[in-house]
Amino acid sequence: MKILVINGPNLNLLGLREPELYGKQDYAALCRLIEETAVLEGIEVECFQSNHEGAIVDKIQSAWGRFDGIVINPAAYTHTSVAILDALKAVAIPAVEVHISDVGVREPFRQISYAGMACIKTYMGLGFDGYVQAIGYLKEYLK
Ligand code: DQA
Repeated sequence: MKILVINGPNLNLLGLREPELYGKQDYAALCRLIEETAVLEGIEVECFQSNHEGAIVDKIQSAWGRFDGIVINPAAYTHTSVAILDALKAVAIPAVEVHISDVGVREPFRQISYAGMACIKTYMGLGFDGYVQAIGYLKEYLK
């Protein structure tokens, strides 16, 4: 089983970026946690991060036939990108949405999630553990 983990814009600045919201650990620590989770779950993962909407769309398209599941934190593109929603719908790979912060209690403009409309489940406000939960959920869903 192969899972693709996609992180969107500014998540490469984890640790530096608004630590009161996103924590003090950096993106490399997040990738290590994801790799460790994959080893424990006996699955393969690939971590991908981009600040560019089109690069994320390209990555989702390239996942077709190569990955069984997608974990995606589209970051700010969550609230704006119909292109990412359409890419997830196009490949129809089961996808789980993750947000490190609890977007549900944040600004009104964060209350819409386009990508979430193509996802089977959303985890928010759990910090990095949301990614661990998402991988576990996908593994159960896919088996
Ligand atoms: C985020 C929440 C988004 O609203 C924000 O734009 C991000 C990160 C999160 O993980 O909590 O960049 O997706």
